[in-house]
Amino acid sequence: MAGGPQVSRRAALGMLAGGVVVGAAGARVGFSSSDGDGGDGDEQLTGDQSSAAQKTYVPGGEFDPYFIFASGGHSGQVFVIGVPSMRLLKVIPVFTPDAWQGYGYGTDQGNMVLEGGYDPDKSNPVYWGDTHHPALSETEGDYDGRWLYINDRANGRIAMIDLRDFKTKEIWDIPNLQTSHGGCFVTPNSEYVHISTMSPTPVNGYAPLSKFKEAFRGFSTWIAIDQKTGRFDKANTFQVELPPYTQDLADAGKLTSFGYGFINSYNSEMAVGTSQGGQPLEAGASANDYDYLHIIDWRKGEEIFKGGGTVEINGMNVIPLDVAAAEKVLTLAPEPKSPHGVDVNPTGDYICIGGKLDPNGSVYSAEKIIAAIEAGDYEGEDEFGVPILKLDSVLEAQVELGAGPLHTQFDEKGYAYTSLFIDTAVAKWSLGPKAGHEDDAFQLVEKLPVQYNIGHLVTAEGDTVNPDGQWLVALNKWSIDRFPPLGTLHPQNFQLVDLSGDTMQVLYDMPIGMGEPHYVQMIKSDKLVHTIQVYEPGTDPSTWEKSAFAIEAGQEKVERDGKDVHVYMSVLRSHFTPDTIQAKVGETLQLHLTNTEQTADATHGFAIPQYNIEASIDPGEVVNIAVPLNRAGTFAMYCSEFCSALHLEMQGWIEVEP
Ligand code: CUA
Repeated sequence: MAGGPQVSRRAALGMLAGGVVVGAAGARVGFSSSDGDGGDGDEQLTGDQSSAAQKTYVPGGEFDPYFIFASGGHSGQVFVIGVPSMRLLKVIPVFTPDAWQGYGYGTDQGNMVLEGGYDPDKSNPVYWGDTHHPALSETEGDYDGRWLYINDRANGRIAMIDLRDFKTKEIWDIPNLQTSHGGCFVTPNSEYVHISTMSPTPVNGYAPLSKFKEAFRGFSTWIAIDQKTGRFDKANTFQVELPPYTQDLADAGKLTSFGYGFINSYNSEMAVGTSQGGQPLEAGASANDYDYLHIIDWRKGEEIFKGGGTVEINGMNVIPLDVAAAEKVLTLAPEPKSPHGVDVNPTGDYICIGGKLDPNGSVYSAEKIIAAIEAGDYEGEDEFGVPILKLDSVLEAQVELGAGPLHTQFDEKGYAYTSLFIDTAVAKWSLGPKAGHEDDAFQLVEKLPVQYNIGHLVTAEGDTVNPDGQWLVALNKWSIDRFPPLGTLHPQNFQLVDLSGDTMQVLYDMPIGMGEPHYVQMIKSDKLVHTIQVYEPGTDPSTWEKSAFAIEAGQEKVERDGKDVHVYMSVLRSHFTPDTIQAKVGETLQLHLTNTEQTADATHGFAIPQYNIEASIDPGEVVNIAVPLNRAGTFAMYCSEFCSALHLEMQGWIEVEP
């Protein structure tokens, strides 16, 4: 059995390289982790396998010390996963309806959040998202366990999740952003959450591609965060207009580089494809040896915005490109061919960039960048008048890591970990004197093969000023033979890596069969101190206030107001009160459901299947549902969450007279 799988794996890896030379390291990909015999149940674990099992096993009833918040890719959701057990703990619905949690099936809260992300006239409801970059809120550069933000790569939207109840509270379809790939990050005190364009956008909606340079622009959005609620403070939000390059990954400066945002770009060629007489996009966008790192001084931007220096474009306050360039809100620095990841190290001194088509990790010095901007030490301007710093003045080091470096994370010992897509490996490298490596400076330390074709990776709190611990998770795009055949679309593969030993070790493969998670953040679970299990009695979770429609047991009632039939219903094991409702076609049922329980986990469901209604009413929660009655019938309603021994009896009827 030894030969076959190896050949196919090698062939597949060669194919993944897509014409790009696979470096010598490509052949290092380890094929030894499986004996190829399949799991017939009578095999002994090897010593390494036993040790891996010991390290990852978390007994039932005990909790993982870390949580991963993973983007759910095309599922549009967020996955919460325990580390090191790699148990899926929850799927938080964000951009896509979810029946279990009653999100998008008739309840006011879920529908309101989802509809907030539709086009303003609701003419183009969007039922999915492509979640990409989760960003946990921070205080002094450290995760604080309050809020989580995530972007929708497909539609240029952003969502806010409250980590008190793990529910999505708000979605915003950001003006002037058609799509957004990697622009989501939070500044060190959660002053702003940032999101930028991917595809440059014609601000009037339509412009011919022949006018690309004139009419298309990128936008870097600084969404102010309401410090009490974590919600979007739209009135204090501004954008910086950018040249029509393709802006990609971004990260916030911290400590030394506090006050700056860094955005990679590619396609500085501004290629638009073959219809304009150009090369195919892939080649046209890869012609230049250098693209531009965008350096944004957001405090300067804030000053200009507050001083009235913005113009309004599609309802957004925008700092025009010429102002941004003149006032040094935007400065460019050359960066190697088609860069992808940009990651600021924990001390804020180094900005680490992976160039998809360059074997190096490139390290820029924050100190040198800031000094060069202040001194006006430029090599020139781009064709939009934006100053370009001299590469030699700001580049600190380049380390040859291997083929296809993408993203970098950090530990507390001054090491960086970079994903190598084409090598399908993780490179560990030392990060120079300011990270505590006086002697060995910047150099490659070790490469670990992963299975297969890693995109992002995460270390525990690796985005913060204070990384923590021994775990790394590799987010692999291909799983090939790591799981049994499951049809033609394979799961993604999250691999848990132990960083605590002398060498890195892959411990565990977790299949993700629900979309393509893109990026994740890992937080110590004991930081989630704000999380609750039961709402205060009668809470409206969209406001955290007592709902005007809350009732206590015994206060149930039906009130008619014109065509509206208001039903104040209590929900308690194992009864809806009232359990029968009478109304007529043409009326609207206004259901106000209060779960009067205060016991953790005593959630009830509420479904009227014939009207496509499905709600989850958690202990203490009030849920409102409007049901326009457009046809007669006697319709069953039932509790859709198995709540008690008499769960099946928890049902009722709605009589809708013709
Ligand atoms: Cu209430 Cu089942």
